[in-house]
Amino acid sequence: MSKILVLHSSRFGQSIKIASAINDELIVRGLETQFGPLNVATAPNPAVHDALVLVASVRYGHFDKLAYDLVSRYGWWLERVPTLLVTVSLTARKEEKRDPAVHSYTRKFLDETGWVPTHTEVVAGALEYPRYNLLDKLAIQMIMTMTKGPTDPETMVEYTDWDRVEETADEFADIVTAARA
Ligand SMILES: Cc1cc2nc3c(=O)[nH]c(=O)nc-3n(C[C@H](O)[C@H](O)[C@H](O)COP(=O)(O)O)c2cc1C
Repeated sequence: MSKILVLHSSRFGQSIKIASAINDELIVRGLETQFGPLNVATAPNPAVHDALVLVASVRYGHFDKLAYDLVSRYGWWLERVPTLLVTVSLTARKEEKRDPAVHSYTRKFLDETGWVPTHTEVVAGALEYPRYNLLDKLAIQMIMTMTKGPTDPETMVEYTDWDRVEETADEFADIVTAARA
């Protein structure tokens, strides 16, 4: 059976947790997957993989360069198979910011790369001040001040809507199953 390639691009682990939850649900739905990090060696194999999930976090307004490289190198393949992009971001902690059509970092990434995923989802990540270095902590505190979020340096909070993550996996499982029929 063909496999869905499930990739995560993460700095502090939240995107790994989200990708893992999606991976688990795809398996529950009877689909085979290959799960792993997006790295320089990532190379979808069209003989093995017939769909792609990319779960990637936003840092200072951008996705990791490897996400741009993936689309640049394998755009020809991404056009031919069902694909799911899941953006993980803190602006998405507010429900009205979760619309992929208006989520600025997602729009910018898709506009710049030209990728048109079959399905796009924006998911809220985690705020974990004690894990950040001083500069990152100050920058995030400034952003949180501007957007009326927590600024207490002890804050550890996960905003991820896990029910929505599972629904997203189910929606993508339906898309892949329909494409294979
Ligand atoms: C240094 C830093 C910069 C960030 N920049 C942004 C940003 O520009 N926009 C945003 O929505 N979230 C931003 N975030 C929030 C992350 O996307 C969020 O914490 C996410 O859960 C991180 O996922 P990861 O652990 O998989 O990297 C930033 C977080 C950190 C630590």
